[in-house]
Amino acid sequence: MGEVSFSYQQFGIEIGHLESTSFSGILQSYSNSKIAILTDENTHKHCLDFLITGFQGLNSAEIIVVPALEESKDLDICVYILETLSEAGFGRKDLLINLGGGMITDLGGFVASIYKRGMPFIQIPTSLLAMVDASIGSKTGINFMGLKNQLGTFSSARNTYIDKKWLQTLPTCQWNNGFAEILKNALIADEKFWTTLMEISNLKEQLNDSVIQKAIDIKCEIVRQDPKELGLRKILNFGHTIGHALESYYFNSKMPLSHGHAVAIGILVESEISLIKLGLPKFEFEQIKKVILKNYSLQIPDDYLAIWQLMQHDKKNDLGKVKMSLLSRIGSCAFDQIVDLEEFKMAFEKSVELIR
Ligand SMILES: NC(=O)c1ccc[n+]([C@@H]2O[C@H](COP(=O)([O-])OP(=O)(O)OC[C@H]3O[C@@H](n4cnc5c(N)ncnc54)[C@H](O)[C@@H]3O)[C@@H](O)[C@H]2O)c1
Ligand SMILES: [Zn+2]
Repeated sequence: MGEVSFSYQQFGIEIGHLESTSFSGILQSYSNSKIAILTDENTHKHCLDFLITGFQGLNSAEIIVVPALEESKDLDICVYILETLSEAGFGRKDLLINLGGGMITDLGGFVASIYKRGMPFIQIPTSLLAMVDASIGSKTGINFMGLKNQLGTFSSARNTYIDKKWLQTLPTCQWNNGFAEILKNALIADEKFWTTLMEISNLKEQLNDSVIQKAIDIKCEIVRQDPKELGLRKILNFGHTIGHALESYYFNSKMPLSHGHAVAIGILVESEISLIKLGLPKFEFEQIKKVILKNYSLQIPDDYLAIWQLMQHDKKNDLGKVKMSLLSRIGSCAFDQIVDLEEFKMAFEKSVELIR
C-alpha cells in the first residue's frame, strides 16, 4: 500500500510514557464524574497500583476485576460489569478505563458501548497484542456460543494510550503472541517493514517504539480508509480465517491456544494457499515459513474438516463461500478470495507436515 502517510494521532492514540501524555488532563476533565477501571487478575496485580498512585484523579475509582481468561469475554461477565456500574450509579457521561490485554479492551469497550447507549471509555493496553491491534480500530466484542467475537460493536475509545512500560511484566509467550499481528501488518502492507522484522532474533531486546509505531500506523491507515470493514479492512484478517477457527477449536476443547499463536499458524496456512492461488513467490513463502517456525512452537490438529466447519462461521463469508484475504506478494494483499475445500485441505495438510 506504499508509504503510510496517515498519523495514528488522529485516532486519539498517543504513544509514550503515560505521564507525558494527555491522560492527566483528560482525568481532570472528569474530576466531577465517576471513573471505573476494568482489569483482569493479572493487570490488577501488575499494573493497577502504578495507575492509581501515579494519577490523583483515580484514588476513588471503582475497580472491577474479572478472571484473566479469554472466557471472560462472555455475556455473564458483561452482566456483572453492567450491574456493578449501575449499582454504583454510573451515568452515560462517566468514564470507564480499560487496563489490560485485548480481552479487557474488547470486553470493556463492548460494555461501555452498550451501557446507557454508550459511555466514554479509555483504552490502556498492557499486552503487546492489545497495543498494536486489539485496542485500536474501534472494534469491541465478546465470544458467544463457543465462537469468537460473535457479539460486538464498532465503538471508538475516547483515547488510547500506548506505553511500553507495561510490557515489563508481560510473560515471554505473550510477546510472541503480539508479534504475530505485527508480522501480519508487515505482510499485508509493507515489504520494507517485513525486512526489518525478519532481522529480529530477540523480541524483548529488539522491539523498539518505532516497530510498535509502524505496526499501529499500518492498521490505522487501513481503518481510516475502511472503518466498517466493507472492503479493504478485510486485509487485516490475513491469517485470521484459519486462525480464528483454530482458536475456536482449541477454545471448545479447553486446550489453550492464544490468539497470536493461532494467527501465526493461520499466516502459515494462508500463505500456503496464497502460493497456490495468487502466485505468492516461492522464495517469499519460504521467508514467511522461516520466520513463523523460528518464533512459534505451533500446535495444529489433524482434523482439517473440523477446522473447515468452524471456518463456515467467519464473518467475511458470503453466500456460503469461504472468503479469505491472501497475499499476491509480501506487502500486497487481496481480500474476498474464495477458497474451496480442496484448496484448503491441500494447504492445511502441507502445514501439518511442516509443523509436526
Ligand atoms: N478488537 C480487535 O480489533 C482485536 C484485534 C485483535 C485481537 N483482539 C482480541 O484480543 C484478545 C487477545 O488479546 P491478548 O493477547 O492481549 O490477551 P489477554 O488480554 O488475555 O492477555 C494475555 C495474558 O497476558 C496478561 N497480561 C496482560 N497485560 C499484562 C501485563 N502488563 N503484565 C502481566 N500480564 C499481563 C493477561 O492477564 C493474560 O493472562 C482476544 O480476545 C482477541 O479476540 C481484538
Ligand atoms: Zn488478530
